[in-house]
Amino acid sequence: MSDLTLEVSETTDLTPTVRRFTLQHPHGLALPPHEPGAHIVITTPAGHKRSYSLVDPGGDQPRHYAVCVRRDNNSRGGSTSMHNDVAVGTTLRTSLPANRFPLHPSPKYLFIAGGIGITPIRSMVRQLRAEAKTDTRLLYLTQSAEETPFREEFTGPHDTVHHSDDHGLLDLWPYLAEPDDDTRVYCCGPAPLMQAVHTLTAHWRASRIHVEQFTAERKISAPFTAVWAPDGLRVEVPAHLSLLEALRRNGVPVESSCEAGVCGTCRLAVLEGEAEHHDSVLTDEERPSTIVACVSRAASSEIVVGPLVRSRKDHP
Ligand code: FES
Repeated sequence: MSDLTLEVSETTDLTPTVRRFTLQHPHGLALPPHEPGAHIVITTPAGHKRSYSLVDPGGDQPRHYAVCVRRDNNSRGGSTSMHNDVAVGTTLRTSLPANRFPLHPSPKYLFIAGGIGITPIRSMVRQLRAEAKTDTRLLYLTQSAEETPFREEFTGPHDTVHHSDDHGLLDLWPYLAEPDDDTRVYCCGPAPLMQAVHTLTAHWRASRIHVEQFTAERKISAPFTAVWAPDGLRVEVPAHLSLLEALRRNGVPVESSCEAGVCGTCRLAVLEGEAEHHDSVLTDEERPSTIVACVSRAASSEIVVGPLVRSRKDHP
């Protein structure tokens, strides 16, 4: 997936913990196109593969990509490497843009962003407002004004920027109580926010609701049993744990990198049963016989998995 080598042309601290990185072609060439909601996978200088939303709308021949990275000292190192090891002039390997959170046409939109979840939503809102064709409402939920990237952009009459340190959690029910087939709801943010939006929109048509998919679905999926083929070990995978984590807790070592379904490092062979795929990396050809353990689950009550025999298509 790492198909581009780009150079960091600018870094900007948007908040005490969020830094914006602008990436360009080393010779100033136009970059592959992307749409609002798209992401790229960046290989950090420390070797982690991380997926970041592109914060600008894009277009046919973008001259740059921009991503925002929140420093998380409890993370597995990806954000730390981006903050500590990347400066203007650093070259980074990235994937081509991909989009698992596309913007569908609609007369009206309700965007709900939590914290750094503003990044894909900013690109959507900017594009729609530039076209001035649609009704866009934004609920932007953060902890404090200080930790609110792009807050100066969202001061209009259709923007609600809410800080939980000042006002507690925002009650979303008044915004979601009345289902509206003319409105699409897009939500991106921490898992509890997406779970709340799922719950509060249970009476909406499902096609109207779009959440950042892999995290939300991990949160609400059913438990299942994984059988580790090499030794027949049976591993119960509860709803709140990934297959990857459940296997590891039972002593099965499985390599990983992004843990977001975008790099392919944690692929396993499916020997029996059916996978419920939530990744952005497998081809249609691979899906029947492969599972991405960090995000995907079993569609059946039991699935038999094992190490991938790395003789077919094999990337990374
Ligand atoms: S660790 Fe990257 S796809 Fe699972």
